[in-house]
Amino acid sequence: AAAGLPAAAQPGFPLARPRRLRRGAPLRRLVADVRLHPADLVLPMFVREGVTDPVPISSMPGVVQHTRSTLRKAAAEAAAAGVGGIILFGVPEHKDSRGSAADDPAGIVQLALADLASEVGGDVVIMADLCLDEYTDHGHCGLLTPAGEVDNDATLGRYAQIALAQAAAGVEVIAPSGMMDGQVAAIRAALDGAGHTELPVLAYSAKYASAFYGPFREAALCAPQFGDRAGYQQDPARSVGEALREVALDLAEGADAVMVKPALAYLDILRAVADSVDVPVAAYQVSGEYAMVEAAAANGWLDRDRIILETLTAVRRAGADIILTYWAAEVAELLRSRG
Ligand code: PBG
Repeated sequence: AAAGLPAAAQPGFPLARPRRLRRGAPLRRLVADVRLHPADLVLPMFVREGVTDPVPISSMPGVVQHTRSTLRKAAAEAAAAGVGGIILFGVPEHKDSRGSAADDPAGIVQLALADLASEVGGDVVIMADLCLDEYTDHGHCGLLTPAGEVDNDATLGRYAQIALAQAAAGVEVIAPSGMMDGQVAAIRAALDGAGHTELPVLAYSAKYASAFYGPFREAALCAPQFGDRAGYQQDPARSVGEALREVALDLAEGADAVMVKPALAYLDILRAVADSVDVPVAAYQVSGEYAMVEAAAANGWLDRDRIILETLTAVRRAGADIILTYWAAEVAELLRSRG
């Protein structure tokens, strides 16, 4: 310190002090501008046909394949915690090459949608994933050509049929995740043609071919039996422009809201999408993101609750209006208890 000079005249005395607003939790709470809210969280749930008890998913500790009755109970708990929505995935007992169970009115997903409507209808938004991979014996998201390639255009007709079956069962938002070109238009046309003009489509628009889906494929028993999904899902090595094009196409085809998936490794994509559209943007914190945190926390390597909130806050900060997360009910409860 220079002798005789007042503190403020000392060399290097900081005039700007950002730390002032970090002194103490109340001040930090006051100035925080990225907030999580239960209403913006969507809980993905699995319902499995032909089981009498819930089946744990080993790579997703705490997540199960529900029976119809445990699904009802867990959905009611999620609704009581204040989540904004539930997105349903069906795991049928029988799979075939065309995914017949996906649009069977007596298929597990249709029955469970009706259960959810009676259990939590009017309290939370009931959504369904629309895809074929959970229903096909080959595990791909579409119909196959004789040569074993996914047949984009033939698949569109199946998606339209599934949309109608889900609509008849009472779904409130349809979320197509198969990454076929033209899928939103095909679904929108089918819905409109059947009078479901008010049923919104949340498009999985920017969906990457990701290893982060690994645990989900155990959860939905839908790992591709040959090959992978890189021929239809996006390449992680492509820059943001391709994602913006996918989003623009889906909006032009009639999507009401769009999604980026996965979340944490794709925050750059999420930010760019959020800046480029004026519809709600969802982000899907996928199974592998969940599994990594649960595994590290179980080893005592990470503070589980803080990591969950930090990752969700990051997704929010990158521009997500809606976040799909397997922690939705737990986090909703936590946020409520904190006020
Ligand atoms: C396709 C679908 C997948 C996920 C959601 N919808 C799997 C895939 O594309 O391979 C993954 C969700 C997750 O990993 O949590 N129906």
